[in-house]
Amino acid sequence: MDVAKVASALHPLERKVLPEINGLGVSQLARQTGLKEIEVMRALQWLKNKQLVSIIEKKEAVVELDSNGEKYLKEGLPEKRFLKAALSSHSVSEIREKAGLSEEEVNVCLGILRKKAAISITKNKELFISLTDNSKRLLEKESLEEKFIHKKFPVKTSELAEEERFALEELRKRKNIVNVAVVNEQRAELTKSGKLVLAEGIKQESLLEGLTPELLKSRGWRNKRFRPYDVNTDVPDVYGGKRHFVNQAVDYMKSVWLDLGFKEMRGSIVQTAFWDMDSLFVPQDHPARDMQDTLYIKEPRHGKLPARIYEVVKATHENGWTTGSKGWRYAFSKELAKENLLRTHTTVLSARTLASLKKEDLPAKFFSVKKVFRNETLSWKHLFEFVQVEGIVVDPDANLKHLKGYLAEFFRKMGFDKVRIRPAYFPYTEPSAEIEVFVPEKNSWIELGGSGIFRPEVTKPLMGFEVPVLAWGLGMERMIMQYYSIKDIRELYRNDLTQLKEAKVWMR
Ligand code: PHE
Repeated sequence: MDVAKVASALHPLERKVLPEINGLGVSQLARQTGLKEIEVMRALQWLKNKQLVSIIEKKEAVVELDSNGEKYLKEGLPEKRFLKAALSSHSVSEIREKAGLSEEEVNVCLGILRKKAAISITKNKELFISLTDNSKRLLEKESLEEKFIHKKFPVKTSELAEEERFALEELRKRKNIVNVAVVNEQRAELTKSGKLVLAEGIKQESLLEGLTPELLKSRGWRNKRFRPYDVNTDVPDVYGGKRHFVNQAVDYMKSVWLDLGFKEMRGSIVQTAFWDMDSLFVPQDHPARDMQDTLYIKEPRHGKLPARIYEVVKATHENGWTTGSKGWRYAFSKELAKENLLRTHTTVLSARTLASLKKEDLPAKFFSVKKVFRNETLSWKHLFEFVQVEGIVVDPDANLKHLKGYLAEFFRKMGFDKVRIRPAYFPYTEPSAEIEVFVPEKNSWIELGGSGIFRPEVTKPLMGFEVPVLAWGLGMERMIMQYYSIKDIRELYRNDLTQLKEAKVWMR
């Protein structure tokens, strides 16, 4: 540690507090320095971060006046009032009336005063009191208990004199006069470094804390020194408001596609099976359409179908229509096509986009980063609601090499340098490819989604003509888990405040 440097960079509050630290607590330091407690606390925190002081927590018993204590402070202790009233009355009920005491208080008084031999009690139908010689002394002198309740509260028991301790013990036996609570007291102690800095000498000169327009105008800075900032000291973490870390990553992915000239696709979460599956040439008996895999909507159960496209999609399924394919060779069911469901993939947005395109719009590129839903059992690997990164490139000149190029570029920007595609199968693409990226931390390839070139059975019914359409759909969550060091996919959406606060900012 550079002692001189640390000493010169001390904040004005630190300058005031450091010389006074000597096992004192916050309130004592405040008294000593004339600072507010909050200022002392702040200075101590800074000094602690610089390891110039250590803060010792000590448990302290602290006494405060309770409700009856406050009352007796104003009205006097009951035993005193009792004695005074007993100077002119003998019957207990009269005394009670005069002194304005409750039944309970009178009982306490009788006990106390008899113990102090100030009264004697006789019973003759009712109770009578006669005062002893002792009572005079009690009436004239302030008792220890009376003195005690006149102290300035709160008081630490450790700071009480012997007599006061005795008074406290007596008062504690009585109802709601005092209250003793154990609190944590912090005391500051100089560390070795703190002593060195102090020995270096702390000038109480007023250093400039910052440059203001006024200072510039008045040239007031000329004969003054600026306080050097110490940028190396640890300061408490400050958590500003920020977007959910998953949304930060989503925003980034969107910006990557926008930068590559893609337009964003939007659409409903609720779709018909027609758009989600049939228009993509997924056969109506495909297992993915089972209720075990797809979440269907109960109410409204059915959606609307697009008349013109419906006919050609139906024909394509049944016999291939004019696509050159033989189709699936079954009777297409309108009932199944009309079923409403929660979209199972964002490829449904691609299908709808294709259906809206005209020849003049080409070439065109589209993307979406949107939620999809599947009837999955929740596990460390699977969510039933997750985000897909979808894309299509509609271009007469597009080929598989371009597909790999777009994906490689996207993944490079996502921090994955190595991408490979492997043969796969999807009903809507030919060829079809699975996409994998290499994760150095795991020293392995992870599968991130599917891709391919849409079949004529998809493009021709939707667009009316055939054109190569590159298509992909990637799982978003798996792409960013590495970045946030998350191993269980559910952690992404746990929304634990500490996790959200501490999650690093997405920066690629
Ligand atoms: N829809 C596929 C899935 O959800 C991904 C995919 C998209 C495959 C586009 C090929 C083409 O897994």
